Amino acid sequence: MENNEPRIIALPKILDKRGNLSVIEEWKNVPFKIERTYWIYDVPGGEARGGHAYKENQEFIVALSGSFDVILDNGKEKRTFSLNRSYYGLYVPKGIWREMNNFSTNSLALILSSTAYNAEDYIYDYEQFLSMQR
Ligand code: TYD
Repeated sequence: MENNEPRIIALPKILDKRGNLSVIEEWKNVPFKIERTYWIYDVPGGEARGGHAYKENQEFIVALSGSFDVILDNGKEKRTFSLNRSYYGLYVPKGIWREMNNFSTNSLALILSSTAYNAEDYIYDYEQFLSMQR
């Protein structure tokens, strides 16, 4: 998995009359070692999250429940990915500006990260982000 482009990755889906099961293994379904997991929930209607880039951190975002949009911007073009199935995830490489919006009621976003939390890794200033892309 040497591809550093943002992309939707289909996860294994094991269908069973008792219910379905999906699974993520590091290096196998996501192209990095998983150092951290967090989730976003109880997002009030109309709220947006994100609005930043990471210098090093990579992410994999799954809509475990409900739906939301992830807007990825590489400084040249913006792409919107609508996540609404728990057996698809979005790979976000480092150095990409990302926002999340259009959260449905009771949506649950699972985010796997390649690094431990480090406030220094965040770029919150869009102009600074653009200057780093040049
Ligand atoms: P923030 O990065 O603003 O969330 P989002 O990416 O959705 O905009 O994080 C919100 C708060 O949570 C902020 O004070 C930092 C803290 N936080 C941690 O302590 N650890 C973490 O792993 C993350 C992602 C956030």
